[in-house]
Amino acid sequence: MNQTIVIYESKYGFTERYANWIAKTLSCPMIEKKNFHAKDFANYDTIIYGGGLYAGGISGIKLLTQNFPQIRSKNIILFTCGLANPDDPANVSHIRESLKKVLTPEMLDIFHIFHLRGGIDYSRLNLVHRSMMAMLARMLSKKSPEDLREEDQLLLETYGKTIDFTNQDTIQPLIDYALGTGQIEKGTR
Ligand SMILES: Cc1cc2nc3c(=O)[nH]c(=O)nc-3n(C[C@H](O)[C@H](O)[C@H](O)COP(=O)(O)O)c2cc1C
Repeated sequence: MNQTIVIYESKYGFTERYANWIAKTLSCPMIEKKNFHAKDFANYDTIIYGGGLYAGGISGIKLLTQNFPQIRSKNIILFTCGLANPDDPANVSHIRESLKKVLTPEMLDIFHIFHLRGGIDYSRLNLVHRSMMAMLARMLSKKSPEDLREEDQLLLETYGKTIDFTNQDTIQPLIDYALGTGQIEKGTR
């Protein structure tokens, strides 16, 4: 029988919400990355890993990259959760470029990758994250408005506020894929 697990790392709860929706829909266990032991990969055929995007990196991705020999023959699904809109192909290629820095070509080939949209609550950010976002906002505010991408404009408009784009419906392609019903071609997922 196909055993599936959802593992996630979430700093402010957005990725966790998606992990929860995915695990409930697939009726499988979910666990926070910090509580997962790599030896337990052996118990699963399908591993779904989700992490928030932070300056292009995926939170906790080392769990997969450092244990790749153990998991390479499994069905691995990776989802990212970020503020940028994944419906915009430019944002997806930006995420893909960042992924290339941490995943080998073999990993990129094997992992089935999905991008989900999270949110941000500035009042909850830790000091480091708050200063990173302040620096970004300051840098963007110096640009002329016509040079700003839609994402950048949105960031400036919502800077300091709470914004939540999580949407349960957007997990469907991942669910279809996990259940083997997805019509997913390489490069289009
Ligand atoms: C310091 C910082 C850097 C971020 N960098 C990115 C990024 O590169 N791309 C993106 O789409 N979102 C970025 N975000 C937004 C987060 O990915 C978003 O808040 C996400 O929902 C966080 O999920 P989590 O709460 O599960 O960790 C960043 C947020 C912070 C605070």
